Amino acid sequence: MILPKIVIAIDGHSSCGKSTIAKALAVRFGYVFIDSGAMYRAVTLFALRNNLIANGKVDEQKLISLIPQINIEFRYNSEKQKSDTYLNWENVEDEIRQLPVSQNVSPVATIAEVRAAMVRLQQAMGKNKGIVMDGRDIGTVVFPEAELKLFVTASAEIRAQRRFDELTANGESVSYAEILQNVQERDRIDSTREASPLRKADDALILDNSNMTREEQMAWVTERVMERLG
Ligand code: DC
Repeated sequence: MILPKIVIAIDGHSSCGKSTIAKALAVRFGYVFIDSGAMYRAVTLFALRNNLIANGKVDEQKLISLIPQINIEFRYNSEKQKSDTYLNWENVEDEIRQLPVSQNVSPVATIAEVRAAMVRLQQAMGKNKGIVMDGRDIGTVVFPEAELKLFVTASAEIRAQRRFDELTANGESVSYAEILQNVQERDRIDSTREASPLRKADDALILDNSNMTREEQMAWVTERVMERLG
């Protein structure tokens, strides 16, 4: 039996495991996985490299004027079973996860023109369905007609601990307090910004994974997908 393809939109706070769920769902159902946050991170890296951010302040007009020079793509890495992010034909997957980008991405993601350009790209990627995309505005703005919308959340402390474990495992020297502050600050900016603030779509299902194992979450979301596929 050939199952129909659907669009799965996964939104929620930073570091609450959205990408992990989205990635696993994509492998399970043979869907394309797109980490939309990586796109805002790539734009931020571009801005940093072009000296358009000083002391947390973005030169918005200059960045907006350079948007046509920013090419973002995802290329599948079969070894990792996931896509790497490319900025102007360079693999920047590792660099966009590091602290300089994390600390500057929120203000970049508040710029309406940047969002409009990213949303256009994201919608083009989903036009044939069979896609799992995670972010902040996927169920509300990018794919308001998505067949399945999830809103994932967990406490700020638990999310900071997960991010801390991830970064220290990669050999970065960071403090838990610094990470917690970064998580809380990003929550604040993401939820209060004017352009597409983070909010749950009315028809999204809430998944609070503060006290759930990865396996429990996967069992729950897989069931929700199967329901939608009939
Ligand atoms: O999910 P993440 O932490 O990699 O996201 C990085 C930043 O991009 C974060 O500040 C929120 C923002 N973002 C957004 O505004 N809209 C999206 N669809 C995805 C991410």
